[in-house]
Amino acid sequence: MALPTRSVFLSLLLFLSMSISLAEIRFTGVRSDNRPIIPFDEFGFTHRGRLELNVSGISLSKSNLELNKVGFFLCTRDSWMHVLQQLEDGEVGCALLSDLVKQVYTFDALKAKKEFNTVFNETDADQYTLVFANCFNRDLTVSMDVSSAMYNLDGRSGRRDYLSAGKTVLPRVYFIFSLVYFVLAGIWISVLYKKRLTVFGIHFFMLAVLILKALNLVCEAEDKSYIKRTGSAHGWDVLFYIFSFLKGITLFTLIVLIGTGWSFLKPYLQDKEKKVLMIVIPLQVIANIAQVVIDESGPFAQDWVTWKQVFLLVDVICCCAVLFPIVWSIKNLREAARTDGKAAVNLMKLTLFRQYYIVVICYIYFTRVVVYALETITSYRYLWTSVLAAELATLAFYVFTGYKFKPEAHNPYFVIDDDEEEAAAEALKLEDEFEL
Ligand SMILES: *[C@@H]1O[C@H](CO)[C@@H](O)[C@H](O)[C@H]1NC(C)=O
Ligand SMILES: *[C@@H]1O[C@H](CO)[C@@H](O)[C@H](O)[C@H]1NC(C)=O
Repeated sequence: MALPTRSVFLSLLLFLSMSISLAEIRFTGVRSDNRPIIPFDEFGFTHRGRLELNVSGISLSKSNLELNKVGFFLCTRDSWMHVLQQLEDGEVGCALLSDLVKQVYTFDALKAKKEFNTVFNETDADQYTLVFANCFNRDLTVSMDVSSAMYNLDGRSGRRDYLSAGKTVLPRVYFIFSLVYFVLAGIWISVLYKKRLTVFGIHFFMLAVLILKALNLVCEAEDKSYIKRTGSAHGWDVLFYIFSFLKGITLFTLIVLIGTGWSFLKPYLQDKEKKVLMIVIPLQVIANIAQVVIDESGPFAQDWVTWKQVFLLVDVICCCAVLFPIVWSIKNLREAARTDGKAAVNLMKLTLFRQYYIVVICYIYFTRVVVYALETITSYRYLWTSVLAAELATLAFYVFTGYKFKPEAHNPYFVIDDDEEEAAAEALKLEDEFEL
């Protein structure tokens, strides 16, 4: 059966919320709106969930209507599909009247008042969307100021937890990872100190990337923990965005610089390599602005989808752009291996760059595609696992990069004299034997 455009549109709206924003206390102004369905926010409730809904400044374009067909309800994604079916089949005339949704407030209780405050106890653990329904076929326009808060009560202390059920452990996850990165930064500093004679500029750059990543995670942990405690997103959010931005730019720059072999293969960048940086850096600025807008507005805001697309597009372009310098280096090394006398050293560098190319692709693929898929298929209760997977993949990538490009007195990748050429030839022979 073909679904009419309206239901397709409605189900799309709900599906677009796949990537779930962190529910907070939200204030939304609705102005002369005749949409039949206005979704507000999504939240994973435990058995002790609560919704506080304060609506004021209500004005309806018509009076004398059966206002039980206008109001707020909570609905899970699954039941929403069934509600759509019921509407198609004409079993119910209005989503608000279906027995599959949980009515929170209908406007017939308003009795000419212009505002109401209500608290709804949600005892069935699940992920719900708060939705406003207006079943008057666009004849009725509504204006109102909606302030909503969804939270769970903590089992023992009874304290409010404003993070959705699957995200409540996130502050801890981020904090633990930040500790790991600080430890890595410490180890890296000691490596740089021990091998100070063979340290290149790129190694200090790697240290900066590590520290920025650690700081970014600390701020993210504090930001999420602030939301968890207060429901407001304005704890360390500015710091968090600043470090996200710096981390994003430096990480992409680092991948490009390593890809070009800057400072350990050659002291300068070619023009085309500089161009890659000149593309990636401004795009990162745009990606970060998009990220801020996405986080601040929530999945049902009007421009949310546009910004999400901008972000994805920019991110994909950046990811592709950083691969070019590695490909160019591989090409150069392959030619050099054929022409100059240092075939073994060049072949080894070639192997390294090939490995690096594959690892960068895996990293990008995992953090962009696999994590997104995980987020979509895992139950709302385990949403933190996709964050954990992404952070583990990122950590593995940082460790690999640091390990393979560490400063080393006898690192055959970085040297060019004849003794080292022999050493490299030996090492290569060994490596080949191991591979067989
Ligand atoms: C919600 O639960 C609280 C206690 O947890 C209770 O005081 C309140 O009356 C309940 N509200 C409703 C509408 O059931
Ligand atoms: C709703 O109103 C009550 C009483 O005025 C207030 O305590 C509560 O914080 C408000 N909740 C929201 C989400 O605005």
